[in-house]
Amino acid sequence: MEKKPIVKLQNLTKVIGKKKLIDDLSLDLYAGQITGFLGPNGAGKTTTIRMMTGLMKPTSGEVFVDGQAISTHFEEAISKVGVIVENPEMYKFMSGYKNLLHFARMNKDVTKARIDEVIAQVGMQNRIHEKVCTYSLGMRQRLGLAQALLNRPKFLILDEPTNGLDPAGIREFRMYLRKIAEEEGVSIFVSSHLLAEIELMCDRIAVIQNGKLISIREVKEEEESHYYMEVSPKEKVEAFLSSKNISTEVLGNGFVVQLSSEDVPVLVGEMVANNLQLFQINPHRKSLEDQFLELTGGGQIAESHKK
Ligand SMILES: Nc1ncnc2c1ncn2[C@@H]1O[C@H](COP(=O)(O)OP(=O)(O)OP(=O)(O)O)[C@@H](O)[C@H]1O
Ligand SMILES: [Mg+2]
Repeated sequence: MEKKPIVKLQNLTKVIGKKKLIDDLSLDLYAGQITGFLGPNGAGKTTTIRMMTGLMKPTSGEVFVDGQAISTHFEEAISKVGVIVENPEMYKFMSGYKNLLHFARMNKDVTKARIDEVIAQVGMQNRIHEKVCTYSLGMRQRLGLAQALLNRPKFLILDEPTNGLDPAGIREFRMYLRKIAEEEGVSIFVSSHLLAEIELMCDRIAVIQNGKLISIREVKEEEESHYYMEVSPKEKVEAFLSSKNISTEVLGNGFVVQLSSEDVPVLVGEMVANNLQLFQINPHRKSLEDQFLELTGGGQIAESHKK
């Protein structure tokens, strides 16, 4: 993965009246990576995205896209960004294809071949010549995605893209986003107030609360470092683990421990040699909600799909 970020948010701050909507927010976004922007209603997700797309001027701080500052090189910077807002604007009585053609005409670099390519990328080949008003919400979202991809953006922003989609629609949308990140090497930034959804969709999660970025986590790293082990006798195992400086957290008939994957077979061997019984050891991921509660001491993130 490229080390240089495609997008850089640098000390972004937005003050309106006496209220600090966004407070010194810095974040780097990388090619091929899907970053989730998670926060409860009113946290400042849309406000941040508005500043990233030049719709709102930051009070201080800067947004760089591919090295170009939005405030001083808007045209160049924004030409690399694809944006999908909650409801992509489409001509309902035209076919999906004609809609794409219409958008393509606004940009001389978009060829017919590229239109066909994005249609395939979002799996719309079979329905693309039907009128948009016959599409389901999920299909409209995918058409919006196709449109945003037309001019090969390096960076794609989606503000709450799955609002209103059912679980199957969300799964499908997620699959297409993943494919696009991989095939086109696009950096994708997707906001949501739904932790379960963000957890499944993203490689990395940035949590925002009251306008402040309170954590950035890699999703995969998390998966690898925590293991759940069911053991007996618990007291002896706990003493053994603590003698090896492995911190434990009690869960059911065992412990959650933090290990690297190479340490697992070594530890299992040592436990067997010490007559400790191991019934199972599995990767364990703390739910994002637990992490969030730990971080904020009780801040809330909506769990349901209602707004
Ligand atoms: N133009 C404005 N003037 C004053 N306050 C604003 C303005 N725009 C947004 N806010 C406030 O800024 C805060 C952040 O709003 P924002 O829309 O960015 O939140 P969000 O994280 O996108 O929430 P949601 O999940 O509901 O979409 C809210 O308290 C909102 O009321
Ligand atoms: Mg919002």
